Amino acid sequence: MIYGIGTDICDVRRIRASLERHGDRFAEKVLSDAELLTWHARSARWPERGVRYLATRFSAKEAFSKAIGLGMHMPMTWRACEVGTLSSGQPVIVLHGALKEWFDARGLTAHLSVTDETDYAASFCVVEKLAPGA
Ligand SMILES: CC(C)(COP(=O)(O)OP(=O)(O)OC[C@H]1O[C@@H](n2cnc3c(N)ncnc32)[C@H](O)[C@@H]1OP(=O)(O)O)[C@@H](O)C(=O)NCCC(=O)NCCS
Repeated sequence: MIYGIGTDICDVRRIRASLERHGDRFAEKVLSDAELLTWHARSARWPERGVRYLATRFSAKEAFSKAIGLGMHMPMTWRACEVGTLSSGQPVIVLHGALKEWFDARGLTAHLSVTDETDYAASFCVVEKLAPGA
């Protein structure tokens, strides 16, 4: 059954401004270690790709935080919620630490979709509660 849904729209210009103001510290606050590696690689090739990567991750994490009903409150933290990518290109939620324990204890699973256009990134997340024994 559906446990929760979450959506978020993120202004890419706001993310760009935060990166200009705070530099890497902003990315380090929002991204997990694995995401930071990808962000550094994309930014090195073309800074705008780094901005867009960060914006889609930012919106995905906010959408997930709404789908689980916690918002950005413990155990939900930016860095404990990672957005991975399957070989097909599909984004997937990968959790760490206390957030993973909280999520697994409830028998939850997440589905994520992200998109971006010139000035906006948006995400939609559905969290499902698995039936016992499923
Ligand atoms: C929900 C949350 C994750 C995002 O809020 P936001 O980005 O300020 O605002 P958004 O417009 O994207 O979302 C707000 C809506 O989320 C929904 N929402 C609020 N708390 C929620 C919760 N616990 N679960 C699900 N949805 C929630 C509400 O519908 C709210 O709209 P309302 O205020 O009109 O009722 C917020 O609770 C939060 O914790 N934000 C932290 C953001 C932050 O740390 N920013 C710093 C950037 S480094």
